[in-house]
Amino acid sequence: MEKLIVEGGIPLRGSVRISGAKNAALPLIAATLLAPGRHRLGNVPNLRDTRTFLKLMENLGVRHEREGDVLTIDSTDLRSAEAPYDLVKTMRASVLVLGPLLTRMGKAKVSMPGGCAIGARPINFHITGLEKLGATCRLEHGYVDAEIDGRLQGDTVYFDIPTVTGTENLLMAAVLAEGTTILKNAAREPEIANLIDMLTGMGARIEGRNTDRLTIHGVDELRPADCDIIPDRIEAGTYLIAIAATGGEGTVTHCNPAHLPSLLEKLRLAGLIVDEGDSTISIRWPQAKPRTLKSVDIKTMPFPGYPTDLQAQFMALMALSTDVCVITETIFENRFMHVAELQRMGADIRIDGHSCVINGRGLQGLSGAQVMATDLRASSSLVIGGLAASGRTEISRIYHLERGYENLVEKLTGLGARVWKEQE
Ligand code: EPU
Repeated sequence: MEKLIVEGGIPLRGSVRISGAKNAALPLIAATLLAPGRHRLGNVPNLRDTRTFLKLMENLGVRHEREGDVLTIDSTDLRSAEAPYDLVKTMRASVLVLGPLLTRMGKAKVSMPGGCAIGARPINFHITGLEKLGATCRLEHGYVDAEIDGRLQGDTVYFDIPTVTGTENLLMAAVLAEGTTILKNAAREPEIANLIDMLTGMGARIEGRNTDRLTIHGVDELRPADCDIIPDRIEAGTYLIAIAATGGEGTVTHCNPAHLPSLLEKLRLAGLIVDEGDSTISIRWPQAKPRTLKSVDIKTMPFPGYPTDLQAQFMALMALSTDVCVITETIFENRFMHVAELQRMGADIRIDGHSCVINGRGLQGLSGAQVMATDLRASSSLVIGGLAASGRTEISRIYHLERGYENLVEKLTGLGARVWKEQE
């Protein structure tokens, strides 16, 4: 296993290019199951999670070739409709094959993902939604065994909570259903708009893009797609927070500022000057010295609210602010695993139910320590803490980071950080 070493205390400067979004790439790869033929996806990040997903697709009979960031996927011959536990347990997004497999093969057997480091994460809304469209789902031996007699039938599906992958699964099931499906209280994350664009390019008829009410008029068949993955807003946000935490100044490029409305506002409230270009975001400090960060409360919410996937990183930033703030997590019940590790670096954070009270120590208020990565986003908050801290930080179990951050070491080095990998 590898660990990441960070020699902190260096203000990050310069620009960093953002990769394609992991959480858009996974549903778009799954969507290729809906139409036999050769699909082309551009701007696909090369991450542990995309590689795991492609392995799952290979298991189903789907072939692919990668050239740079372009994936050619051939979904002509499917030989299986089963997503086995061994693959699903390492990446719960594997559940995204449920809707498209059921539609294409008339059946799907997908392992239940089980809990993960951030919460129980059930898939009940995926299942009840598919049942509403006429699927029969049995839960047996840890698997969802779903089948349909003929075609799925359009109907109205109401989500109790806006679920991102649930909305994506139901979209992919409804595009080839007979009649019209209405998804109410659907998630509105930009990754869903990306999937809608891909499905529309394949011939699907979908209304309500970027709203919480999606109307899907089922069509008889779809054609292969040619679509680009949107930039990774969480990666962009992570680098912006890292630059701010080190007291640095810089630009993230090849991103979409419209996908980060809440974070950019929170950075402004924290005292930074944020300049938005068409596909760039720059942050700098006001002229007045010394540089200080104001404390800002956040509460995670579905898009366009503050993203849960940037909660841990913002907490590392607020540990370096000058006052007290409260960070509330409303999406997942157990997403504070980074707190104990940030405390090892000297952060003053108290967990109080679904909130954390952070008493900022000021920029340069943290010191390097040995810490352990527990999940993808928690790990990136430790990297941010380490970059801002004085001295050396060692982060073990960095395979979590490799699930979602492409070329992390190279990108941070490009911003002037002293960071490298070592064997544990
Ligand atoms: N929920 C249910 N039942 C369901 C589905 C969801 O109770 O059937 C609950 C969840 O437990 C949670 C809430 O609804 O409390 C929202 O969860 P959602 O379904 O939206 O999460 P997800 O689709 O499993 C995606 C991202 C996550 C991101 C969340 C929230 C992908 C592949 N994953 O997960 O990304 O945190 O949306 O925005 O898109 C990450 O990238 O690190 C990551 C965890």
